[in-house]
Amino acid sequence: MKTQITELFGIEHPIIQGGMHYVGFAELAAAVSNAGGLGIITALTQPTPEALANEIRKARERTDKPIGVNLTFLPARNPPDYPGYIRAIIDGGIKIVETAGNNPQKWLPTLHEAGIKVIHKCTSVRHALKAESIGCDAVSVDGFECGGHPGEDDVPNFILLPRAADELKVPFVASGGMADGRSLVAALALGAAGINMGTRFVATKDAPVHQNVKDAIVAATELDTRLVMRPLRNTERVLTNVGVERLLEKEQRLGSDITFEDIVEEVGGVYPRVMKGGEMDAGAWSCGMVAGLIDDVPSVKDLIDRIIREAEEIIEARLLGMSRA
Ligand SMILES: Cc1cc2nc3c(=O)[nH]c(=O)nc-3n(C[C@H](O)[C@H](O)[C@H](O)COP(=O)(O)O)c2cc1C
Repeated sequence: MKTQITELFGIEHPIIQGGMHYVGFAELAAAVSNAGGLGIITALTQPTPEALANEIRKARERTDKPIGVNLTFLPARNPPDYPGYIRAIIDGGIKIVETAGNNPQKWLPTLHEAGIKVIHKCTSVRHALKAESIGCDAVSVDGFECGGHPGEDDVPNFILLPRAADELKVPFVASGGMADGRSLVAALALGAAGINMGTRFVATKDAPVHQNVKDAIVAATELDTRLVMRPLRNTERVLTNVGVERLLEKEQRLGSDITFEDIVEEVGGVYPRVMKGGEMDAGAWSCGMVAGLIDDVPSVKDLIDRIIREAEEIIEARLLGMSRA
C-alpha cells in the first residue's frame, strides 16, 4: 500500500507506532519497523540523552529499516535536557521525529538541518494547521477516543479527520481508536494517509511491558477508560482502576481548587510501576477506548500483516464489489 506517508518515511505500510512512555523501547520500535511500519522510541522514557543514544543503538542492532524517536514537550518546572536528547537523535542517525505536546517550532531548524522529517501530533485542526505553517512535514491527528492526551476539544475522529483533510496540505495519519484493517480503510477514506496506533501495540508479544498490562487491555471494553486531570486542562484518557477512581473522587471533591500536588500519588511515577511491575491499580496510565476492539496479543508482525490483509480484502472484496454492483 503506497501513500504519501509511506513515501515520506520510506516505509512499506502506512502504520506508525506512536511514542509511548515506558512502552516505546527499542524492542517494540524495531519490531514495528521490521514488520514494515514505523516504530518509534520514546525519548523521555530514557533518563538521560546518553541512555537514549544507547536505546537507539539497541534498536539499530535489531533493524536496518527506518525508525523514529518521539519527543514530547510537556509543561514542566524543570524541563528535560531537550538539546541533549536532540543531539542523541541526530548523532544516532535518526531521520524521523514525532513531536507531541507543546509547539515544536523552536527545535525545527536543528532537526531539519540534520535531514530529519518531523511529524507533529495534534488534537485539533487549528493545531494541525499551526504545525503545517511552522514547517512540520506531516501531522498525526489524534481524536477524542485516543489513549493519552486528547486535548480539551473532545472532537472524535469521524469529524476531526475529514475536517483535517479539508484544511491541511501536508499528509496526515489518523490516530486514536485504530486497531485493524477496518480502521485503516476508514482512515484512508476520511482523507488520512495512514494510521498511528498506541494502545493496540501495547497488547502485542513484542511490547516490553508486564503481561498484566496486556491482559488488562484484552479484558477491557470500550467503557473502561476515564478522562482524568480535566480540571487541570491536562486531560488524559486512562484505563480505570482503583487509583484512577480515587483520583476522580479527589477531582470531584476539590473541584477547581485542585492542584497537581493533590493528585501526585495517582499520577506521579506510575508508569514504571504499571509497565514494569504489573501493579495494575497504581494509578493513571494512558489507554484508548480502542481497548474494546482488542481481544488478542499477537506478535507485531502478525498484527501488521493482518491489518494489511484485512484492509486489502475490505477494499477489493467489499468496497469495489459494492461500487461495481
Ligand atoms: C501507554 C501509553 C503511553 C503513551 N505515552 C505517550 C507519550 O509519552 N508521548 C506521546 O506523544 N504520546 C503518548 N501516547 C499516545 C500515543 O502515542 C498515541 O497517540 C495514542 O495512543 C493513539 O490512540 P490509541 O491508543 O487509541 O491508538 C501514549 C499512549 C499510550 C497508550
